[in-house]
Amino acid sequence: MWGGRFAEGPAAVMREINASLPFDKRMWKQDITGSIAHVRMLGAQAIISEEDAALIEQGLNQIAAEYEEQGPPSDLALEDIHMATEARLAEIIGPVAGRLHTARSRNDQVATDFRLWVRDAMDQADAGLVGVMQALVSRAAEHVDAVMPGFTHLQSAQPVTLGHHLMAYHDMLARDRSRFANARARLNRSPLGSAALAGTGFPIDRHATAAALGFDSPMTNSLDGVSDRDFAIEYLTAATQTALHLSRLAEEIVIWASQPFRFVSLSDQWSTGSSIMPQKRNPDAAELVRGHSGRIMGCLTSLMVTMKGLPLAYSKDMQDDKPPVFEAHDLLGLCLAAMSGMVESMTFNIANMRALAESGFATATDFADWLVREAGLPFREAHHVTGRAVKLAEERGVALAALSLEDLKAIDPRVEAGIFDVLTVDASVASRSSYGGTAPDQVRLRIAEAQAALKGARS
Ligand code: ARG
Repeated sequence: MWGGRFAEGPAAVMREINASLPFDKRMWKQDITGSIAHVRMLGAQAIISEEDAALIEQGLNQIAAEYEEQGPPSDLALEDIHMATEARLAEIIGPVAGRLHTARSRNDQVATDFRLWVRDAMDQADAGLVGVMQALVSRAAEHVDAVMPGFTHLQSAQPVTLGHHLMAYHDMLARDRSRFANARARLNRSPLGSAALAGTGFPIDRHATAAALGFDSPMTNSLDGVSDRDFAIEYLTAATQTALHLSRLAEEIVIWASQPFRFVSLSDQWSTGSSIMPQKRNPDAAELVRGHSGRIMGCLTSLMVTMKGLPLAYSKDMQDDKPPVFEAHDLLGLCLAAMSGMVESMTFNIANMRALAESGFATATDFADWLVREAGLPFREAHHVTGRAVKLAEERGVALAALSLEDLKAIDPRVEAGIFDVLTVDASVASRSSYGGTAPDQVRLRIAEAQAALKGARS
């Protein structure tokens, strides 16, 4: 395709290092879609004849059918998906194929294809996120009243409701959706017509090709058009942030499924056995979600390092933009699907959660709050009094609520019998009714809002 000025062909290794076909063939659909938009515009603008444009479009449709059936080619000599398709077009329709590349360069072609591909990837990520969010919301609705220990430092802190805990992850993923949506809005401008770097002297219509490809408008600077990869970095940033959230949930599942916790049992479909220890039931999918998040983050780092320091406009380094994006997309799709599967099917052992919430002095703050509210103590003093009560309960190996009123009065005479009302975990969670708090009534409101927001979203 570009051999006119060369006497010899490339060395075998040159061919290999130069070829992107092994990976960019994944963009064959976007490449053909972009070419059809381009060639229709060339015909409409009378840059080539309408007949040639129609013949080229027909040929491209035939190639699409062939690729659909047999897959795109993989011969390294074809270099990349753009040249492979054009070479095949020449085989099918002859020399007219050579008119397709009028007023275009592979530089704006690849920038266009890749944007289209990443746009689809963003839509798929959004659908995957919706799936996990729906699973979280429905499990939260099921367990809106179930009490579990809430942790800080992974130490029992205050009782919370399981519904509240699950909805925390819903809220994280809602932010991830908005990150993908923001990135998509910035991505959605067309580089096509930037040509090699400087634009073209042909009377092209960039607004027409942009509209045909579903872009909002053409990009305004041809140098930026061919060299911008922000959209891919932003995709990877949103993917990384999503993966980080999923890895935190995955870690909780690993902890919760462990024998000391027994908060959840994973379904058979989402567990694996050990080849040597017959009793084992391992949360491998959760561990792999946790692990894959690191690889997704690596993809982001990889592309940022590729792009840093590149002068305008196109450099071949930029061909390395695709493997990390493809890898992250595949991993993220798996992680989202596995997470929905696990969340949908796991059993919450709410009796174990409640027992642990009741055992860890988790209502100590309620004890202190009672002293502030009912006996008028300053919070610091109430904290100290409560600390002494906890110490006594710990020495006796009993719960706070099991101490007698006499014991408590010996610590501080201002304690009254009413304090026992706030020491149950149910009273504790019900009292935390501030906006966004863990009280079941609050969580019910948040669940209803989430359900309304997810209604109509595609998963
Ligand atoms: N395969 C190339 C890539 O993915 C296409 C662009 C080639 N452009 C060039 N000037 N050699 O980046």
